[in-house]
Amino acid sequence: MADLNLVLMGPPGAGKGTQAERLVDDFDLPYFATGDILRAAVVEESDLGKEAKSYMDEGDLVPDDIICRVIMERLDSGEAQDGFLLDGFPRTAGQAETLQQALDKRSRRLTAALLIEVEDDEVVRRLSGRRICKKNGHVYHLEFDPPKNPDACDQDGSRLIQRDDDKEETVRKRLEVYHDQTEPLVGFYEDRGLLRRFDGERPQDDVNGHIRATLATLRLEAEL
Ligand code: AP5
Repeated sequence: MADLNLVLMGPPGAGKGTQAERLVDDFDLPYFATGDILRAAVVEESDLGKEAKSYMDEGDLVPDDIICRVIMERLDSGEAQDGFLLDGFPRTAGQAETLQQALDKRSRRLTAALLIEVEDDEVVRRLSGRRICKKNGHVYHLEFDPPKNPDACDQDGSRLIQRDDDKEETVRKRLEVYHDQTEPLVGFYEDRGLLRRFDGERPQDDVNGHIRATLATLRLEAEL
């Protein structure tokens, strides 16, 4: 079966993590979410975590050299040899160029950039109600996707918490950073014929159905 090499893009709270959780199972894709990798490093208090924490708390991006190193290690680890789904990377023009050069060097190519689109006000509403489980990062929303018990994860029973960077002020800063530094990548991937757009304001199942159909077609095309 043809490999799928994918990047998942969109503003904070667009539903990237929510959709990735389902796509990874459906398409058996190795999954690398830079936000999750960085948050785990902060909890471990590793050198990476210590470097990243202040940027994340402020809603700023971690410098390109740090995050590119993290992703290149994953690409070279063998974990990504049968395809990948990158969530939250690339996020700047520099990161997109680095990824392209790295794939060229390894004689690989990106299959598609999946863009989940959501308006800013909806982002603020979503992130104020988001809860994640402490153990495995399963994602819920108090209104749109409520857990059975508001304090515990349905899947593993661990405690549900709110992310530090989901305060409204930090969310507004993250949105500003997204529009300024990440949104220009939409044109970068559109110019290369790789962009696929999805309406992230539709219910989760609809978004999932649309992405699944697109990936099934891309895989078929790659096999022809
Ligand atoms: P990261 O963790 O990547 O955060 P983000 O991109 O801001 O994305 P989120 O995780 O907030 O949102 P999501 O799109 O995954 O939404 P979710 O599925 O949870 O990055 C955090 C920080 O790390 C950055 O600010 C930066 O500092 C650093 N960083 C990471 N990558 C970096 C990089 N490459 N370079 C530099 N720095 C980097 O959904 C949100 C909520 O909405 C949930 O409650 C969910 O239940 C609900 N929901 C989802 N879909 C729907 C729907 N269709 N309808 C209604 N509700 C929905």
